[in-house]
Amino acid sequence: MAKKLIVANWKLNPGNAAGAKKLFADFSKVKSNAKADVVVCPPAPYLALAPKRRSYSLGAQDAFWVEKGPFTGEISSTILKSLGAEYVIIGHSERRGWLSETDEIVNKKVEAALRAGMKVILCVGEPGEVRRTGLKEAYQFVEAQVRQDLAGLMGNVSRSKLVVAYEPIWAISTSENGEVDKPEDAAEMIGKIKALTGSRCLYGGSVNSKNAGPFLKRKEIDGALVGGASLNGKEFASIISTIK
Ligand code: PGA
Repeated sequence: MAKKLIVANWKLNPGNAAGAKKLFADFSKVKSNAKADVVVCPPAPYLALAPKRRSYSLGAQDAFWVEKGPFTGEISSTILKSLGAEYVIIGHSERRGWLSETDEIVNKKVEAALRAGMKVILCVGEPGEVRRTGLKEAYQFVEAQVRQDLAGLMGNVSRSKLVVAYEPIWAISTSENGEVDKPEDAAEMIGKIKALTGSRCLYGGSVNSKNAGPFLKRKEIDGALVGGASLNGKEFASIISTIK
């Protein structure tokens, strides 16, 4: 089986630098290996706290599209790279939702991050009301999103530089009530996204060590983007160990 990519998205956690140091220490046993490449995406200031000796890559959760200048509060790919980040997540549904990031903004960010030499993890996914109308409608929604987010880039980016993460919005942060997608439905959607983009594609949305196996054993699914379950090193390592 081709090597999987397992990405930890710590989101806005932990709450302070001491907590981040503790979580990095907890991740000392999390390793890339023959079955999986691992990427850890902490809040940007914590990148500087990551141990120098580590066997996973670092990523950021967002990057602005201009390198420097009068853009208060923003962080560029160049800054993130100088702190060790190789990857950057762009277009996460929480940013699209809470900060009204449009496909046009996402497109600019993807383009700028690639230009700066970062590897991009582009997040796409449909809301629950679209999915309830059917898998076909969900695909149409996602296809339109991908086409806009990758306008001018589709087919021109090497497979090592761009990964798509399919995260149905209704399945994010629901691990307590278990609203994960069905692995077969996710695999079908991901197969179509891969045919459209030529890129690898991950699944995300409430992945944990109990449900990861059936997703990761599908050949269409190239890995996982893990939020809540990445806040515990042991649990995250168990997700990696479900890859057979
Ligand atoms: P979750 O988050 O695993 O907590 O659902 C995944 C994500 O939003 O990237």
